[in-house]
Amino acid sequence: MAELNLVLLGPPGSGKGTQGERLQEDVRLPYYATGDILRGAVREETELGRTAKGYMDRGDLVPDEVIVGVIGERIDSAEARDGFILDGFPRTTPQAEALDAKLGELGRAVNAVLLIDVSDDEVVRRLGGRRTCAANGHVFHVEFNPPAQEGVCDIDGSELLVRDDDKPDVIRKRLQTYHEKTEPLVRYYDDRGVLRRIAGQATPDDVCEEIRRTLATMRLEQDEAV
Ligand code: AP5
Repeated sequence: MAELNLVLLGPPGSGKGTQGERLQEDVRLPYYATGDILRGAVREETELGRTAKGYMDRGDLVPDEVIVGVIGERIDSAEARDGFILDGFPRTTPQAEALDAKLGELGRAVNAVLLIDVSDDEVVRRLGGRRTCAANGHVFHVEFNPPAQEGVCDIDGSELLVRDDDKPDVIRKRLQTYHEKTEPLVRYYDDRGVLRRIAGQATPDDVCEEIRRTLATMRLEQDEAV
């Protein structure tokens, strides 16, 4: 596996961000989380942020054409030449097709998709207790991953907040959106032979270990196939 073009797939709150941060340290590749990018744009009140805010607050997806452009630019950049980690993209079949087309132009393809599997009940438990740092989006949980000091980020000392879309009615809407629009991608990537399932209900450390083992196995399999 000369390069790693990796997609993290899974319902809201499955731990994509938690594992993405760890993985980034392991593989030293750029990490593009569309939710973080969009929340940054909302904070900075850019045109992208103004477009995205209403959709995000309702638990709907931002239109495909808006988000495809945002990711396309990054994938085409020099820093992503050896690969990337995508978190939260693609989220619809048209987004997956646009990603394939963009990578195809560059003679590349998605070569690993990790589906972090958790139940809807677990999603509700996790998102209800999530706290996110105001400055850099570092993620904690009041019960499962509490910060050393309540309300303060361990990493950069900024304030920990409840995300606007972590309210119970919006969580339910986001889950519904996931099942309708994003779950079909499981089949999409399974058919291409690049999808692996990760048991997301385990502890963050155990999930991380399973991801490491899975990626190591995929590298071996893909190297042997060359
Ligand atoms: P986004 O920010 O991507 O939200 P999401 O996919 O719903 O994912 P989350 O960030 O909520 O959860 P996560 O899986 O990263 O879990 P986390 O690690 O935080 O997107 C937000 C919005 O932006 C969308 O609704 C949409 O409007 C828009 N958008 C984004 N991308 C788009 C796209 N491609 N197209 C269109 N619109 C788009 O963990 C959750 C909690 O659980 C934390 O508190 C954590 O500490 C805890 N936790 C993590 N792992 C474990 C564990 N193993 N055990 C116990 N607790 C754990």
